[in-house]
Amino acid sequence: MNTLVILAHPDMEHSRVNKRWRQELLQHPDRITVHELYKEYPGWKIDVTKEQKLLEAHDLIIFQFPLYWYSYPPLLKKWLDDVFTHGWAYGSNGTKLRGKKLGLAVSIGDKKENYRPAGSVSFTVDEVIAPFKASAIHVGATALPYFAVFGASFQATDEEIEQSAADYIEYIDRHRLPTPFPAQ
Ligand SMILES: Cc1cc2nc3c(=O)[nH]c(=O)nc-3n(C[C@H](O)[C@H](O)[C@H](O)COP(=O)(O)O)c2cc1C
Repeated sequence: MNTLVILAHPDMEHSRVNKRWRQELLQHPDRITVHELYKEYPGWKIDVTKEQKLLEAHDLIIFQFPLYWYSYPPLLKKWLDDVFTHGWAYGSNGTKLRGKKLGLAVSIGDKKENYRPAGSVSFTVDEVIAPFKASAIHVGATALPYFAVFGASFQATDEEIEQSAADYIEYIDRHRLPTPFPAQ
């Protein structure tokens, strides 16, 4: 099962986490394809057929991005609006994403302890990413648990980011394997 990483970062030049993650992903071209939306589409005119073919060719699809205003960067939202079309992704004939696994690799600026009902954010990350999970359900795909690094703006040390890069590959490899049959 080959993996497609849809990477959406508007400012990779100044990135610490996503840049390091990209570097790690690129070490594994045999099993991971990295598709950088802001590099591919500087004019935001998305080639829908090309994107759909790319998705059809992969079973594990990871969306990688920095959390911006508790959401995706805007080109990823446009990409979803354009690419997940009726008759392809959903609707009675829209079955192309059915059975695929969709994951998230998110760099989160704030600290982990703030992503709780009693924390300064007031919501958990699982609550923040509810639109992603609902979208996966809508297209008949499986939403995987998210992978994240917290404190990505300031607190995360170089060592933690190094470790997260290794953990990210492990996350992908774990989900690349076929899901075992549930115990009876
Ligand atoms: C426009 C903007 C919005 C942001 N919104 C959030 C947010 O809602 N929650 C949060 O925890 N961090 C937020 N951040 C911090 C980013 O998540 C953080 O800078 C990023 O994950 C760091 O990853 P990078 O080193 O790859 O750029 C925001 C940053 C920017 C620039």
